[in-house]
Amino acid sequence: MTLSVFFTSSFLALLLLPAHVKGHGRLLEPPSRASLWRLGYSAPVNYNDNQLFCGGVGVQYGVNEGKCGVCGDPWNGKREHEAGGRYANGLIVRNYEVGQVINATVELTANHKGFFEFRLCPTDNPFKRVTAHCLQKFPLVVADTGLTRFTVPSGDSYSKITVPLRLPADVRCSACLFQWQYTAGNSWGISQDGRQCVGCGNQEQFYGCADIAIGHKEVAVGKPTPKHPWFFQSEKEKEEWHFGVVRYIKDSQETVDYRSGAKRIIFTTLGLHWMNQDDSIQMITSPSILILVRFVLHWASC
Ligand SMILES: *[C@@H]1O[C@H](CO)[C@@H](O)[C@H](O)[C@H]1NC(C)=O
Repeated sequence: MTLSVFFTSSFLALLLLPAHVKGHGRLLEPPSRASLWRLGYSAPVNYNDNQLFCGGVGVQYGVNEGKCGVCGDPWNGKREHEAGGRYANGLIVRNYEVGQVINATVELTANHKGFFEFRLCPTDNPFKRVTAHCLQKFPLVVADTGLTRFTVPSGDSYSKITVPLRLPADVRCSACLFQWQYTAGNSWGISQDGRQCVGCGNQEQFYGCADIAIGHKEVAVGKPTPKHPWFFQSEKEKEEWHFGVVRYIKDSQETVDYRSGAKRIIFTTLGLHWMNQDDSIQMITSPSILILVRFVLHWASC
């Protein structure tokens, strides 16, 4: 056996080793925030759009007590796929009719099993943070079974799975978050009743979030949601101000303070405030800090 044949066959053997292939998946229809770039939209590239898995089982259950961002970001990290994050750019990708049956498509690699669940949260504002509580109120039903769980056919190969879903009869939104949640079933564990099996206990989860509209014909699909007058944009090439008081630096992992969903900043004699979506007003800086700043400036100019 020549060396090259040896290497080629070892390489093939490695490729075929099923033990090293973990289940992964991404939401392609409606296109998820993380996968927009694959589908021809102008959006930041996320090569890991098939592993929005809460940081992995170790992080999700070992560190965060099972909690996860609604779009699959690790609970304890920066939620880049939620409002305020770099992949949440307000691009509405589909516009459906109220109560329509839609097709959701998920791309899965290797080691299936487990189940999918799909949910909605109407926000009318793609820049607004979505809670798990809101999503739980709007589960989507699989059109041909009437169930909210879709059992993934077991198999070990790549596949694209399309699930027909019925949109609720009473949800209309100019922006809704569409959530795909995949609870895998291929890890060995212990269930609450003490049973031990593959598929028992804590399982790996995968997520995808897409921005859709329902029953609003006027919403433009595939274009970023019009920015509000109080949307700030920096002149510098690599920086831009997101909706509200969000500063987003491209290609940087730097943590910046943001308040997604803030409507506008208000300057008053009492300090600097922002107005939330519900028109409640919060203070950013207190008068004492402003007075201190004025004092320092005054002192510096003397
Ligand atoms: C969903 O897929 C089915 C089967 O391919 C097709 O008949 C149906 O028209 C699709 N529905 C939509 C809304 O695209």
